[in-house]
Amino acid sequence: MKPVIILGIESSCDDTSAAVVRDGVLITNIMAGQEVHGDYGGVVPELASRAHQQHIVPVVHQALKKAGVAKKEVSAVAFTQGPGLLGSLMVGSTFAKAFALSLDIPVIAVNHLMGHVLSLFIQEPGEHTTVPQFPYLCLLVSGGHTQIMLVQEQLRMKTLGKTIDDAAGEAFDKCGKVMGLPYPAGPLIDKLALQGDPDRFTFSRSRVPGLDFSFSGLKTSFLYFLRDALKEDPGFIVKHQSDLAASLQKTIISMLMEKLRLAAYETGIKNIGIAGGVAANSGLREALSSAAGQEGWKVFIPHRRYTTDNAAMIAITGYYKYLEGDFAGQDTVPMARMPL
Ligand code: KG4
Ligand code: ZN
Repeated sequence: MKPVIILGIESSCDDTSAAVVRDGVLITNIMAGQEVHGDYGGVVPELASRAHQQHIVPVVHQALKKAGVAKKEVSAVAFTQGPGLLGSLMVGSTFAKAFALSLDIPVIAVNHLMGHVLSLFIQEPGEHTTVPQFPYLCLLVSGGHTQIMLVQEQLRMKTLGKTIDDAAGEAFDKCGKVMGLPYPAGPLIDKLALQGDPDRFTFSRSRVPGLDFSFSGLKTSFLYFLRDALKEDPGFIVKHQSDLAASLQKTIISMLMEKLRLAAYETGIKNIGIAGGVAANSGLREALSSAAGQEGWKVFIPHRRYTTDNAAMIAITGYYKYLEGDFAGQDTVPMARMPL
């Protein structure tokens, strides 16, 4: 039988990525990052769209070439429909639709958040990845979203709780900015935390009932703490950088783990996964592994390279949608906001 070959395209934020999945196995995943935002302390939407425009053709070309796949062999093109930056999404979606139209193949619209959740299903050739059993809970932690998903099947999932203000990644990035770290601060805090004392400082946090999260209180308390400390000692941040990073990271992780434990307790589900950019965090990965022993959970942790934005997760989600015949029309438009 003819193999099912999905070309996946991701362009929701500042990385242009294309991936090829053949019969559910990832063949290539090509990324082009954007350095243009470095001086601005965050992603500048207009610059991001322009950079996607420059990168998309070479990135797709390279992905197909590296996979050894000819254009006419592609079964369908999956693209990120949202949520994300509208201009960035438009570049990926317009390219995907034009590419599919020229080859007379279907397009598949993928929710970026569903892509993150299904990153746990990315299989590389010759490698046996243990994929989650259903139902499982997935803590989805990215730069824009923080939510606990109950996943019944690949394409059937519901949100049990989510942040009412900032996302966990935003908490890392905004607190890091206060410390003078460049954007995105999450990976740098992770690195600094390795040398710091997580119990050196405590920060107050807001508490919300149930399975929802709130990170804005922590951000404010971190900001005030540093403002007061800097009045006493202008060199405070430099002297205590690692301890600040470790203490902040510990607080964010304990807030995430507390709700994840509650969700597991309330649902009785013991298959637990994490996904999204913050799932790259060493402390969170460790916390989940130790919870496995303490709570009797079976845990699923994706490869670091598939936690942050990538087209492999879009291609694999596209593959499952292809099997269900879930195609999009040429009139499908990207959406900046798109709940899961
Ligand atoms: O999923 P993602 O690549 O993009 C969104 O969909 O938002 O997530 C990006 C977020 C950023 O906030 C970044 O600081 C955070 O993930 N992040 C990390 C780490 N790597 C990326 N946060 C903590 N520790 C890390 N190692
Ligand atoms: Zn993402």
